[in-house]
Amino acid sequence: MIYRFDNRFVIEGKQIAYVFDVDDRGRLVHQYLGDRLHETDYIELPDRRVLHSSFETPDGVAAYEFVSFGDLVYTEPTLKSHTATERLHAFTFQDARIGHDTLELDLVDSIQQVTVTLHFTVYPAYDIIERKMTVQAGTDVTLESAQSFSLGLTERNLRLSHFSGAWTGEFQLQQGELLPGKKTIESRRGLTSHQSNPWFALDDAATEQHGEVIYGFLGHSGNWAIHFERDQFGFTQVTGGLNTFDFAKRLASGDVFTTPAAYIGYTQLGFGAMSRNAHDFERDVIMPERTRETLRPVLYNSWEATYFDVSEDGQKRLVDEAAAIGCELFVVDDGWFGERNSDAAGLGDWHVNKTKFPNGLEPLIRYVEDKGLQFGLWVEPEMVNPDSNLYRSHPDWIYHTNGRPSTTSRNQFVLNLALPEVEAHVTHLLDDLLENHAIRYIKWDMNRAFSEPDSPHLGDAKELWLRHTEAVYRILDTLRDRHPDVAFESCAGGGGRIDLGVLSRVEQVWTSDNTDALDRLEIQEGFSYAYNAKMMSCWVTDAPNWLNARALPLNYRFVSAMQGTLGIGGNLLEWSKEDLAASKRWIETYKSIRPLVQHGTSYRLASLKKEGFHAMGYTDGEDYVALVNADRRHYGNNKLRLKLAGLDPDRVYLYEGRRLSGRYLMQQGITLTQQIDYDAYCLVIHPA
Ligand code: GLA
Repeated sequence: MIYRFDNRFVIEGKQIAYVFDVDDRGRLVHQYLGDRLHETDYIELPDRRVLHSSFETPDGVAAYEFVSFGDLVYTEPTLKSHTATERLHAFTFQDARIGHDTLELDLVDSIQQVTVTLHFTVYPAYDIIERKMTVQAGTDVTLESAQSFSLGLTERNLRLSHFSGAWTGEFQLQQGELLPGKKTIESRRGLTSHQSNPWFALDDAATEQHGEVIYGFLGHSGNWAIHFERDQFGFTQVTGGLNTFDFAKRLASGDVFTTPAAYIGYTQLGFGAMSRNAHDFERDVIMPERTRETLRPVLYNSWEATYFDVSEDGQKRLVDEAAAIGCELFVVDDGWFGERNSDAAGLGDWHVNKTKFPNGLEPLIRYVEDKGLQFGLWVEPEMVNPDSNLYRSHPDWIYHTNGRPSTTSRNQFVLNLALPEVEAHVTHLLDDLLENHAIRYIKWDMNRAFSEPDSPHLGDAKELWLRHTEAVYRILDTLRDRHPDVAFESCAGGGGRIDLGVLSRVEQVWTSDNTDALDRLEIQEGFSYAYNAKMMSCWVTDAPNWLNARALPLNYRFVSAMQGTLGIGGNLLEWSKEDLAASKRWIETYKSIRPLVQHGTSYRLASLKKEGFHAMGYTDGEDYVALVNADRRHYGNNKLRLKLAGLDPDRVYLYEGRRLSGRYLMQQGITLTQQIDYDAYCLVIHPA
């Protein structure tokens, strides 16, 4: 619901209220973000401006919804541009259009003839507000900054939560007080990145169950940044969108540019409710509509089993085992194309390798389908190896500076998708691949960050970052449109491209190349703060693990991987009969709890760092499953006390033949006796 009281605008959800004013000079001054108030309260909210000195704006320091350059306000501008003759702005509010859940505000810059529209859409069921900005050029203009949102916050002690990480160590949750000064989380690498992720949360001593949390996402898979600027007066300005580092976007007179969307949420009920609202919002609103109702299949992926050594016979033997234990989708990973016998050659040559598949992929695909599974394939379409026919025929199709060598990483270059002919080439080759084969799943990988970001063909090379991401999105959109039966997975050496931009185009993401079930719990726990379980691919792989040589029990590996969309990624040909039989049982169990995990509501029940064991709960409001991973067993201290959450306190439930109330299960909890190191449990609870 949107209200307007004179110059005050109110955006209201179920719990969230968001209030700002148009001031005397036509600027947007933030007033309130918090719990929904009584309608008349909104008029009473005090003016929070602080009159100070000649070193600050004479209107009084405030928090802003829109910041332009040239005024006595020095936080990150929401928009900064220049024309051939002008570099300053004088934006004033001009018009507002109010819908039931939408608000559009026009601001006009009399100096550069730019009109900006700020778009707000509230999703009341999730208490999330979508924001983006449209820029319309009245003359030729170059954008230096066009942000998705500026959010001014008033009078709060704020703790910032965000992710840091690295390849095989994504989604490490960081928390720290926001002190006066500036903190930026960002990527300058050309992809969302492992190192940081466009999500944040701000709170003041909230817990898992209690307290206010303001949080936000950016929907962009290229260079992005979110800035947190805390001043001496208690205001915090949060600004997020396309990274302004090495950025340019030229608009001709009449052109319109829309920024990526950002999403701002609020809850009073702690981090748990924040995550549950975000999970529901992603599944119901962001993720592709056609897969919202359907459960994700249990997949088998051959990467860790065969690496580059793939062949028709070898893959068929894996298909036999994968089908026998209950997998539903068989994905051939890297190595099936060109001269791809290692990571040193072949990228770019997307034709089937005739030595490995003498009769093409068809016999394998038929074999997979005859066993009742779907067939999937790995591609890395944004890349090329120097040792490839594509590179030999088009050495200028990579990002490079004339006359200087480009840097390889994993023996590969990044293709210059900012060039229309390269985008067209990639679109056609993938379209052909899907046209000519019964492929139901594409794992789209991207295994290096950018270097030599230059494009001699482009008028202003600073445009290439945005153009690249826009091209990736266009290709995905075209393929999804033309091949509606194909599901996509976003992978960038694990979790390097996970954000709400790519999420609107894929069914799943590859969370991390780290498939060690223990490390993975920490990665998955971080991930769960921002992203839902259905999109999170998790594999059970071999013991010892390829990355850290840790050998964990099969039960533990399954219970860890069942906390998302389950997959199997080990070399099944070397698994014992007992392990295969146990895997079959685990996959059956997973299928029986899959609706709770993938479509239900999730609760972080215990974490390794705090409780010394890890537990997640999932419920659809009726049935409940808890997945518990114990750590090392300690003599004399081998009882795990698991308090559930998310049950109806007054309802009676059945757990292992016992009748226990929801209140009991949440307050007293269940006591588990740990038998071995790294014990694991799947506890199913039904209403009595
Ligand atoms: C990346 C992916 C892996 C695998 C390899 C193949 O590292 O994250 O899952 O697909 O590439 O080269």
